[in-house]
Amino acid sequence: MKSRRNRELVLRPMRESDLDQVLAIEAACFSNPWLRTSFLFDLYSEDSCCMVARLGNEVLGFIIGWFVLGELHVLNLAVGSQYRRRGVGEGLLKFLLGRAEKRGCRRATLELRGSNEAALNLYEKYGFRPMAIRRAYYQQPVEDAVLMLMDFRAGSRRDPAGMEVQDGMVSEG
Ligand SMILES: CC(C)(COP(=O)(O)OP(=O)(O)OC[C@H]1O[C@@H](n2cnc3c(N)ncnc32)[C@H](O)[C@@H]1OP(=O)(O)O)[C@@H](O)C(=O)NCCC(=O)NCCS
Repeated sequence: MKSRRNRELVLRPMRESDLDQVLAIEAACFSNPWLRTSFLFDLYSEDSCCMVARLGNEVLGFIIGWFVLGELHVLNLAVGSQYRRRGVGEGLLKFLLGRAEKRGCRRATLELRGSNEAALNLYEKYGFRPMAIRRAYYQQPVEDAVLMLMDFRAGSRRDPAGMEVQDGMVSEG
């Protein structure tokens, strides 16, 4: 069961000391990875939420969201390849959406490669729906971006409280 595998998993705010591991995950996941300076900017921005999922001293994944004008923008989400399909990405997304709701956000948006089936499924599971295509938005390889939107008030989001993923997952901060 996911909950058993995740028993030691801790979600907590990202720290500078996490960045070496975060950057390694980022580089392994994306052909145009964020630079350390981009992470540092969000780490110290009051309008950003940067969380890591950790098991002991190991960073398994991270999420970064930006709150602006009553909206959440999901800027970055990645889980190390060896820790996927264990509910880590879902736990991080669920935490960020909860944080956004507490801040009174009305909508959440993000963009992703159209071929990214894993992420598309994850976001759709949480009520995000494709809204627009941005042609040739990504490089290496060139690919369209799908812009997705989730309306917190529409009730389209599944009730995460009913899901078992979070069992044993501790949130700090
Ligand atoms: C997308 C990503 C973060 C998902 O993380 P994860 O921890 O493996 O995902 P979870 O185990 O929490 O899965 C949650 C849901 O996502 C979807 N999903 C995850 N991996 C999937 C896969 N390989 N194929 C299809 N759906 C998948 C499913 O809907 C799953 O729910 P289910 O278990 O009920 O089927 C991870 O694959 C990743 O880091 N990919 C590379 C970076 C990336 O693409 N980031 C997103 C950029 S927008």
